[in-house]
Amino acid sequence: MRPLLQIALDQTDLISALKVVDKIKDHVDIVEAGTILCVSEGIRVIRILRALCPKKIIVCDLKVADAGEVLARQAFDAGATFMTVVCAAPLATMLKAKEVADAHQGEIQVELFGNWTFEDAASWVKAGIRQAIYHRGRDAQASGQGWSQADLDKMKKLSDLGVELSITGGVTPDSLETFRDINAKAFIAGRAISDTPDPAASADEFRQQIARLWK
Ligand code: 5RP
Repeated sequence: MRPLLQIALDQTDLISALKVVDKIKDHVDIVEAGTILCVSEGIRVIRILRALCPKKIIVCDLKVADAGEVLARQAFDAGATFMTVVCAAPLATMLKAKEVADAHQGEIQVELFGNWTFEDAASWVKAGIRQAIYHRGRDAQASGQGWSQADLDKMKKLSDLGVELSITGGVTPDSLETFRDINAKAFIAGRAISDTPDPAASADEFRQQIARLWK
């Protein structure tokens, strides 16, 4: 299947985020309230996005590490479709969050940052968690970390385990070529859409590139 396009809203105030939403909501498949926006403006952001985009997949990027049930209730009661849990979270936290997600026909996405193993990934799949986000953090990117063959090999191995992968971390339309052999569920872009003079045109550029590379 052709990868979807997800915008990550990482603004520090609601007004700025909503200006971007207004411009791009018909140009992306998935709208994410990024960690930065959720922390800055709270869970009300999800309610507002749900009202503005009633039919869209909405991601609440809380990167939960503990209190899976309580935080998942916040996210899914507010209208999220997916909520993120960091890979370092104990399986117990993921399972508590998943129970709430299941009750809302939603899903949990595991954020792959730092240390994790394929044994961990197999345990998530066994527990019924289907999605993960392969993430080059913005701080890692800023310190010069690129995408390596080792990243691509890990992505392929995760796909072989049955994990549906979204890919993020400074992705641009030009960089999508790197992932052309990867079976990605979605590409998540923040600054490469929001921080351009014409966010809708930038989103369209992503979509055209996706259509060109994944026929
Ligand atoms: C940071 C995130 C970002 O929302 C995501 O990686 C997209 O950001 P950008 O495309 O601007 O790098 O989850 O933790």
